[in-house]
Amino acid sequence: MNPANELYDFSGKVILITGAAGAIGSEAARQFAMLGANVALTDINEEKVKAVAAKIQQETGSECIGIKADATNEADLKSLVEQVVAKFGKISGLVNNVGWGKATPLWGSDTEAMVASYKLNTISAYNVTKYCMPYLRKEPNASVVFSGSMVGVTPSPEFIEYSTAKAGLINMAHSMAVASGPEVRFNVVVIGSVDNGDATLEAGYDPAMLKKISDAIVMKRRGTPADIAHAFVFLMSNAASWITGINLMMDGGGMYESKMPS
Ligand SMILES: NC(=O)c1ccc[n+]([C@@H]2O[C@H](COP(=O)([O-])OP(=O)(O)OC[C@H]3O[C@@H](n4cnc5c(N)ncnc54)[C@H](O)[C@@H]3O)[C@@H](O)[C@H]2O)c1
Repeated sequence: MNPANELYDFSGKVILITGAAGAIGSEAARQFAMLGANVALTDINEEKVKAVAAKIQQETGSECIGIKADATNEADLKSLVEQVVAKFGKISGLVNNVGWGKATPLWGSDTEAMVASYKLNTISAYNVTKYCMPYLRKEPNASVVFSGSMVGVTPSPEFIEYSTAKAGLINMAHSMAVASGPEVRFNVVVIGSVDNGDATLEAGYDPAMLKKISDAIVMKRRGTPADIAHAFVFLMSNAASWITGINLMMDGGGMYESKMPS
C-alpha cells in the first residue's frame, strides 16, 4: 500500500459517532466508512440514524449500524457502548459530536436551560467517553475527537447556555488527554459556522445574519460538514499519532474577523 494511504487506512477499526443523524455526524460517518472503518452511528432520531447507516453501508461496503440513544440519558449511553461492542467486538475511536445550542440573550436564561445545555453538550461526552475507555485503551492509536465550537473559545453572550457548555467540553477534553496519555489521544475540533441546513435557522439565525457571517470569514464562506469531517479523520488517523490535547480551529479564518483589512 502507498505509505500516504496507509496513514489514512481505517480498515479493521470501529468508530462510534454521536449525533450521527445530523449534518456533521453523518458526513463524518460516511468519510470513516469510505476509508474502511466499520461505523456505529447513534442519535436520538432512530428512524433517521438507521436510514443514514443503511445508506452509508450500501455506498461504501463498510459495516454500519444505527443505534438510538438519548445522549442526555446515562443508561442509554451505557447500553449504546455495550451494543457496539456486542456487534463489532471493539471500539477504536469515538467522535463526541452530539450538541446543539440556540441564541439566548445574556440575561435571558435560567437554571433549567443552563443545565439542559450542559447535559447535552458536555456531560453526554463525559459519559459516553467513560463507558468507551476500557475498550479504547486496548486499541493502537486510540483516539477521541470532540465537536467544540468557536463560541466555546471566545466570549459569546448571545449563546450563553451553549457557549458555557462548549467551553466546559473543551477543558474536559484537554483534561482527559493529560490523564489518558499515551494510550488514548483526545483532541477538539473547534468548529466555526457550518451549513447544516434547517438546524441553523432553528438555532435562531436568519438569512441576513448568515450572509453577514460568510462575509466576515476570511475564506468568504461558511464551512461544509465535509470540511469538519476531514478534521475528524485527520485527528483519528495515524498521521496524528503524536497529537493530543489540542484545539484544531476549523473556522475558515473566522477567528480573525477583526484583523481583516477593510
Ligand atoms: N453547524 C455549525 O455551525 C456548528 C458550529 C459549531 C459547533 N457545531 C457542533 O457540531 C456538532 C454537530 O452539529 P451539526 O451542525 O451537525 O448539528 P445537527 O443539528 O445537524 O445534528 C445534531 C444531531 O444531534 C442529535 N441530537 C440532538 N439531541 C440529542 C440527544 N439528546 N441525544 C442524541 N442525539 C441528539 C440530533 O437529532 C441531530 O441529528 C454539535 O455538537 C454542534 O454543537 C456546529
